Amino acid sequence: MKRNPIDVFSEWADLDKDFGMEENHRESVDNMLSLALKEQKPFTFIDAGCGNGWVVREVQKNVHCNHAIGVDGSQKMIAKAKKIDPHSTYLCENLMNWTPQTPVDLVHSMEVFYYVDDPKKLIQIIADTWLKNKGRLIIGLDFYQENTVSHDWSETCGISNMKLFSERDWISFFLEAGFHSVENWRVGSKKDWAGTLVVTGLK
Ligand SMILES: C[S@@+](CC[C@H](N)C(=O)[O-])C[C@H]1O[C@@H](n2cnc3c(N)ncnc32)[C@H](O)[C@@H]1O
Repeated sequence: MKRNPIDVFSEWADLDKDFGMEENHRESVDNMLSLALKEQKPFTFIDAGCGNGWVVREVQKNVHCNHAIGVDGSQKMIAKAKKIDPHSTYLCENLMNWTPQTPVDLVHSMEVFYYVDDPKKLIQIIADTWLKNKGRLIIGLDFYQENTVSHDWSETCGISNMKLFSERDWISFFLEAGFHSVENWRVGSKKDWAGTLVVTGLK
């Protein structure tokens, strides 16, 4: 039987599988941050669907980072993030229903957006309420139409609510939300693996 993503990832936190995600996602996240942080002067940051918070801790090492926030819907992931790093801001919230008190310069997310109820709407909410003018949204996705090897993940991981969109769909969500300078590329493509699809744009 399939279970909702938050329940499954809470179990993964108990089983320490979050550390495996950290290892598996690092190459793609490093690639995304190298573009996103290159242009930043002093900046504020949100990691949407932060898991155990490893990207928040990574970004905080940047001298220009004024404040970094991690948000995740799993209480267990957030408890773990706070245990590893009691001094940073980690919030347990559903991304679809949350908005930061103050808009930020950069919103990053790795392997999260296809789990939320309405990915297109979330991208619009981020454009409208999470980002400052000229702020950047950057997301990485391994589950998408062109990465055919990912198509059975909903079955093999027993997770409901996974939404399979094409590269074109994700780009159009950004454009329709009003982002400009939208770019996309893939990280780590090899035989039988289309790579992490990265999509980014500026408000
Ligand atoms: C595949 S994990 C990725 C975690 C982290 N980004 C990483 O790379 O290690 C997906 C995360 O998204 C979170 N998540 C899924 N749906 C969510 C929602 N609607 N609101 C908040 N978090 C959500 C899960 O709890 C989980 O921690």
